[in-house]
Parts: sequence; structure tokens; C-alpha cells
Amino acid sequence: MTFKDEILQGIPKQLPEAKPYDTGVNHAPKRKKILSAEEETLALKNALRYFNPEHHATLLPEFKKELKDYGRIYMYRYRPDYKIYARPIAEYPGKSEQAKAIMLMIQNNLDHAVAQHPHELITYGGNGAVFQNWAQYRLVMQYLAEMTDEQTLVMYSGHPLGLFPSHKDAPRVVVTNGMMIPNYSQPDDWEKFNALGVTQYGQMTAGSYMYIGPQGIVHGTTITVLNGFRKIKKEPSGGLFVTSGLGGMSGAQPKAGNIAGCVTVCAEVNKKATKTRYSQGWVDEVISDLDELSVRVQKAITAKETVSIAYDGNIVDVWEHFDKENIKIDLGSDQTSLHNPWAGGYYPAGLSYEEANEMMANNPEKFKEEVQKSLRRQTEAINKHTENGTYFFDYGNAFLLEASRAGANVMADNPELGREFKYPSYVQDIMGPMCFDYGFGPFRWVCASGKPEDLQKTDDLACEVLEKIMKNSPSEIQQQMQDNITWIKGAQENKLVVGSQARILYADAEGRMKIASAFNKAISEGKIGPVILGRDHHDVSGTDSPYRETSNIYDGSRFTADMAIHNVIGDSFRGATWVSIHNGGGVGWGEVINGGFGMVLDGSTNAQRRLESMLFWDVNNGIARRSWARNDEAIFAIKREMDRNPNLKVTLPNFVDESLF
Ligand SMILES: NC(=O)c1ccc[n+]([C@@H]2O[C@H](COP(=O)([O-])OP(=O)(O)OC[C@H]3O[C@@H](n4cnc5c(N)ncnc54)[C@H](O)[C@@H]3O)[C@@H](O)[C@H]2O)c1
Repeated sequence: MTFKDEILQGIPKQLPEAKPYDTGVNHAPKRKKILSAEEETLALKNALRYFNPEHHATLLPEFKKELKDYGRIYMYRYRPDYKIYARPIAEYPGKSEQAKAIMLMIQNNLDHAVAQHPHELITYGGNGAVFQNWAQYRLVMQYLAEMTDEQTLVMYSGHPLGLFPSHKDAPRVVVTNGMMIPNYSQPDDWEKFNALGVTQYGQMTAGSYMYIGPQGIVHGTTITVLNGFRKIKKEPSGGLFVTSGLGGMSGAQPKAGNIAGCVTVCAEVNKKATKTRYSQGWVDEVISDLDELSVRVQKAITAKETVSIAYDGNIVDVWEHFDKENIKIDLGSDQTSLHNPWAGGYYPAGLSYEEANEMMANNPEKFKEEVQKSLRRQTEAINKHTENGTYFFDYGNAFLLEASRAGANVMADNPELGREFKYPSYVQDIMGPMCFDYGFGPFRWVCASGKPEDLQKTDDLACEVLEKIMKNSPSEIQQQMQDNITWIKGAQENKLVVGSQARILYADAEGRMKIASAFNKAISEGKIGPVILGRDHHDVSGTDSPYRETSNIYDGSRFTADMAIHNVIGDSFRGATWVSIHNGGGVGWGEVINGGFGMVLDGSTNAQRRLESMLFWDVNNGIARRSWARNDEAIFAIKREMDRNPNLKVTLPNFVDESLF
């Protein structure tokens, strides 16, 4: 059967052969047992409703075993035999080019070279699911292959509810993931309702079909490191950045440090993770001895080398040793997985990796004590460095939160609302005021032809557009423009593509709209194939997350999620090809509401109309909210936008004379 035929058949009428558990791929961890006996029966009934009753007797024991062995029913038997990867758009069956583009993006999220646990349909973050099971995958691909541009597919946490009549300007797909009644949004609620098969954790770009591999995180980290050095008014050259973690996301730090041009030291306790990043060329050197590390670092600083060094050991030891050796750290952060402190996210100092793993499983109480003791030690050492001028920031990994819970000295001496900790988060000081409040965020695109030469042409077009805009940009945003021009010029050389032919850069509404228009024109002239636009949810408007994306909102509204909802509703009726809204992502279930879009450009005048309408809203929605929160940079940005667009009229805040209080 051809690839097209397999897609068109959906769930096969005949039972496919059972598939043995493939030990050659990276599998999701076994999920904890959480369902009662009655609930297990319900989960099995829920799973079987995808299949003809004639197969139930065969499938029931198999699904029962999956639930017992893995804590979830993935329906491995229904995994397709064809290779899953972002094939060029012309290879998909269908009646709608927009739907074919969505198929391409789904295939990319499940590509073995891209996805973290491909057989469990998990793209990244350990739990970021595209679908809950293979029946959903097969049905969705079939629906997309059958649908027309006058229908909309409705996705209910991985489950395709069906095709509904709509119209050409409506989204082809509407996605929700993990939306819960707020009182049912504790971490164990995810475990339970996901095991029942009624919800899933979509992370940000997993369940919204917008993941582009590690390129996104490399770019975001580069921008953070560059702006971190600006914050302390120091050139990256000859500067020292100390941090930890060479895992999924954290592994981007040394590469980003190299692109920024500083000396990076990144500690990692897991030798396997270090080996992977070293073999990929994401870190230049590995050193296991602290004295050797000090000598090497001092030499690199003096010679103003651009170099990244992995320290094969615990980050706490690096902070302490550099203090003893009087090594001045310019930028400091941490990217251990402290959102998950008791189950392997953070390895305490004083224990070997193996000892820690053993204690975690066999003596969890003692392990918790060790983690907290280590966090107190780490904070004490960081505090000594910051007294000597180090700029330390929390990298969205809950370091400050867990350190505070451990009783470490991280609370501010004079706390203000929203500024309870001694140190800022990267959004509070860097990303928020320097990028998001001005409208700069992670715009991305994918060349649907799958041709690297199309990507090269779009890179050139994007660069031309940004250079032209920069000539007349106000001084406030010149730096952001320049960083992204530098990035796009180096993008081909840095070989960032894994999976689909994708690119990311930070741009504001003007930049995003003008770049998209240039692409649409090039498509209409036959110079490139169709282009799919999108963005990370970690952006100006799409995400309400009080300790990350909206941590620099100080009017008390950072615990509200209206902005993310407005964003997705507004994108839907302004021409997005698909939209998504999720609970959870990055910082955890119940901690964030995030959304995004995808938009197909086909060179038509309709595509031009849609991109202008939707991209304008997609960015200015968040700037309006940020300006109402009294953020100066956002007030500047929205006033500038109102000057340019007479149809935009935003409510602006009045400031109160502090002496009145
Ligand atoms: N702000 C952002 O943009 C952003 C982006 C990505 C990740 N994060 C957060 O950063 C954290 C890391 O993400 P990840 O995907 O890299 O996770 P990961 O679990 O893949 O990697 C973390 C690494 O830290 C190592 N580690 C743990 N304790 C250590 C210690 N004491 N010393 C040295 N190494 C230690 C682990 O061995 C692991 O390899 C997460 O909490 C994530 O949510 C934030």
C-alpha cells in the first residue's frame, strides 16, 4: 500500500499485525498507576470506541497490558509502517492545500529524528503529546486528506471530534489541549485524565504541530545571553557565563554562548548527556577536574576566546570553586530541571550520579533532604558571587522557587509585589522589557516544498526586509533588529535545521508582516513553494504564565489568562489556517495557558489579506495588555502602532503620583 493509500484508509478495517515493543527507540517513562479498577475499565472502553466491535476481544487484553505496563494505552499495533517525516507538501493526498500543510507539520512533530518518544507520540518535554494514541493519529490524517476548504476539523486533546462545515476564511483545524475546569488542574489530574484517554498535555508546539527541533531554543537562548551581557553593559567577548544542564533544552546554552561570543561553562552530572552534546558539536571541550577548569577558564577569558566548556560534575562545585579561586563570573544562571526536583530533575552536590539515582528510588525522603541542602549550598555560593558583581537570573526552571522552599537565602530584602526574590527571572529583566514588550518574539516559518534552496531564498528575503526596516527604526528597537539580522546571516552556516526546512527569528508585528508579505510575493512569482508561518507559544501575546512569559506584568493580572484566550479567538477569525490553545507547557500543568497558530501562504491575494489582518492582531494583542500593565516599553510600542494605524485605538493607563500614597 502506498503512503497516500495508507493515509486514506484511516483506521484499517483488518487488524494490522501486532507490533513488538521496539527497544531501539527512546520510549516515554512508565507513567504512575493512578486509576481505580472501575476507572481502568472506563479507560479500556474509551480506547475501544475507536474500533469495530469485531476486534474488541483481540484488542482488549492488549490494551489492558499497555495500561498496566506503561500507564497509558498507546495502541502500538496501529503505528503505521511508513517512515514518518516532513515529506514535501505535494506527497500528501487531499483536496485542501492547507490541510496538506498541516499533515506535513504533524509528520515533522513525530519524525524519529525530531521527536523525543516517537512511539508514544511525544515530541518534547517528556510529556508533550501530538496525540494520545495511534488511532487518533490515523483518523486525523484521514480527515485532513478528505476535507475541503469549507470544513473545519475540531481537535479535542488529541481526539478528532470531526469535520464541521465552515468557510474558506475559517481555520481548517481548531486545537485544544488539556483545557480543564480550573479546579481539576493539579498534576495528578493530568495523570488521571490522560490515563483515562480524555485529555493530553500538548506542551507548546507539540500538540499544536509547530515544533521545529532544537533551532527554536538555540535562538531564544542566544538572544537571552546577548541581552544579558547588555544588561550588565559588557561585551560578551572576554565575558564568562556559568550555568548548568546539557539536557533537552539546557543543552542549547553552550552553542548559544558560542554564537554570542563569550566563554561558557556549563556543568552536567550525567556523562551520557555531556557525551551527546559534545559529539553533536554543541559544546567544545569537556573537563572533569575543577583545578584544570579554573586554569582553562582564566586562559580563555584573558585571550577573549569564544569557547564553551562542559564541566563533568555538579554545578554547586563550580560555583564554590570559582569563588575560592576568585574567578569573576559575569552572567550566571541554572537550567537543571527544578520543575521536577524529587524525581531526577536536580542532582544534589556531594553524591555521585549513581548514588543519587539509588537514593531517589530507595530513600526518597533522604533524597529530598539532600536536594534541599544542595540548593542552600548553591545559593550561598551564588550570593557570594553576586556580591562581587555577578548578574544571576532564573532561567524559567523554578530554581528560585525551589531554593526558597528549601530555605535558601533567595528572598529579596525589600520585596515588591511580583519581585519577591533577590534575583530576576530571565523574562522579568531580559525577554520581557527588551523583547516581548516591544512586540519582538519567535516568528518562524517552514518551506513546504521541503527544498533547502527555498529556505535559503526565504532567509535572504527575511534579511533584506529586516535591513530595510532597520534603516528607519527608532533607537529603542535597533538592537533587536541588528541581533536578528546577524542571526539570519549566520543561520545557514550554523546548520540549525533538524527535520523540516524551518527557520526562526525574533521580529515585531511590522517585521513579521513584511517578511510574510515578501514570502507571499515570491510564491506568487513562482520563486519558492508555499510557506507555513507560525511561532513558538513563548511569545508576546500567546501565553499567560505568571512565572515566565508574563512574569514582568506587575499590575496583579499575571495570574489571569484572558490574553492567551483573546489571542486565539482573534487569530481564528482573522485568517489563521489552524489555531491552538493549551493548558500546561514549559512550567507545568495548571501553571500556564498558551496558544499559537499556523498560517499557510500560497501566494494568493487572500493569503496576503489574511497575513496582514492576523499577524497585526497576533502581536498587538499582547502589547496592548502589557501597556495597560504600565510597562513603559509596551506603551512606547503601542503608541507607535496607533500612530501608524488609525483603526487601532487602545486604552492607555494613567500614572499616579506616588506621593499621594
Ligand atoms: N526559560 C526557558 O526558555 C526554558 C527553556 C527550556 C527549559 N527551561 C527549563 O529548564 C529546565 C531544563 O530543561 P531541559 O529540557 O534541559 O531538561 P533536562 O532534564 O533534559 O536537562 C537538565 C539537565 O540538568 C542536569 N542536572 C541536574 N542537576 C544537576 C546539577 N546539580 N549539576 C549539574 N547538572 C545537573 C541533568 O542531568 C540534566 O541533564 C527545565 O526546568 C525547563 O522547564 C526553560
